[in-house]
Amino acid sequence: MHVSSVDDALTTEDLWSLMRRRVPPIVSEYFRGGADDEITLKGNVKAFQQTVLNACGATRVDNLNTTSQVLGHQLAVPWYITPVGSLRTLHPRAEAVAARVAGHFGTVMGLSTLSGTPMEEVAAASSSPCWFQLYLCGGRDTAIRGIHRAREAGFSALLLTIDTGVSGQRRLHERMKPLEAMRSRQGLSTRDTIGWFAKRLQLTPQMATRLPWLVEFWRDQGVMEFVNVIDANGHPMPFTDIGRQLAQSAITWADLQWIREAWGPERPIIVKGVHCADDASRAEDAGAQGVIWSNHGGRQMDRVPPSLHIVQTEMPKLKESKLTFLMDGGIRSGTDILIALSYGVQAVGIGRAMAAGLGAGGEEGLIRTFTILKEGLERAMRLTGVSSIAEVQALGDELRRPSLLHGDSHLPPFVY
Ligand SMILES: Cc1cc2nc3c(=O)[nH]c(=O)nc-3n(C[C@H](O)[C@H](O)[C@H](O)COP(=O)(O)O)c2cc1C
Repeated sequence: MHVSSVDDALTTEDLWSLMRRRVPPIVSEYFRGGADDEITLKGNVKAFQQTVLNACGATRVDNLNTTSQVLGHQLAVPWYITPVGSLRTLHPRAEAVAARVAGHFGTVMGLSTLSGTPMEEVAAASSSPCWFQLYLCGGRDTAIRGIHRAREAGFSALLLTIDTGVSGQRRLHERMKPLEAMRSRQGLSTRDTIGWFAKRLQLTPQMATRLPWLVEFWRDQGVMEFVNVIDANGHPMPFTDIGRQLAQSAITWADLQWIREAWGPERPIIVKGVHCADDASRAEDAGAQGVIWSNHGGRQMDRVPPSLHIVQTEMPKLKESKLTFLMDGGIRSGTDILIALSYGVQAVGIGRAMAAGLGAGGEEGLIRTFTILKEGLERAMRLTGVSSIAEVQALGDELRRPSLLHGDSHLPPFVY
């Protein structure tokens, strides 16, 4: 059954379908797509669906405590907004809107390098800490400028994403040729101008059925620029440079040294995109305070394990580590959050579930995402008989049990 408004949404899947109806496919497909055959994208979600929980009956939980400590800061809810690029294509000044909602719920907004709202505006919009995620777009000097700017703006931690040596191949979106559609007509030859018009014409049906989005998009300056990547001449990186820039921005362990110097000796660095205990140890040796188990939402290397399986197999190898552990990938509900926490992570990142809310209805939509997750988590805690995140973590294995079901025909269909 289709839901018709944000208020009617009971699940983040409902918000996702509202987002797909409001935003044209050439934009929404960017947010949906996974790499190659999308095996890891689907695996991220399936790993949660396949988990079987243990519920203790005859329990009454009077005081629920959903707070979690992350790098010296108390999150009121055990999730944060993970960096997602180009949010401003979903909704006007979306990164600032997301920061406001995160602050309202007492948690962190993670801002991508590839964002369209100035980082100062984003930090000012939130009453809680924000983290800045760094790609080395534009080279080392540009990155250092970005790091200094983030420090000045009050970002409390730097996220270094290590799984984007090159961009993964997201086929459906690539076939839509989004950069061709976004480029300006200026300076094109007569032949290319004809191609430009043909592309615009081709987009007319999807735009004509999404006029409210189109009007907001043009009022909000149209095709965004990456205003948080500023070159030596003070110019922001053009939207259409994204592929070329990402291909040149691979990060190595050696880079951590100058990044640490630019960021400041005591300030937290979190390495994002870690798949194995060895890389987590390398990150710790290089001076990171935290790692995020993540496969980039299945958008980079396909056929790597689902994030939850990475957490499950790698975290137990690091009992002696002082790192803070976070994870992202496949979180669609409050129960998913409960499951992730039962493996010992301090908090989880939400990516597409956040994009679903923003795209479905801006601030109101994202508040709905957060409310669905919060109510879902609290309900799951009460029904399993746990009262705090610390208790979920302490119970660990006892909160789960082996599945005796064979196959996956009982699982709900994959939505996003
Ligand atoms: C559309 C999209 C854009 C993303 N952009 C970035 C980015 O700019 N930087 C980054 O570190 N991760 C980026 N990610 C990865 C997310 O931070 C996160 O790892 C992933 O979305 C988690 O999976 P989920 O979408 O299932 O929640 C992006 C993810 C999506 C879906």
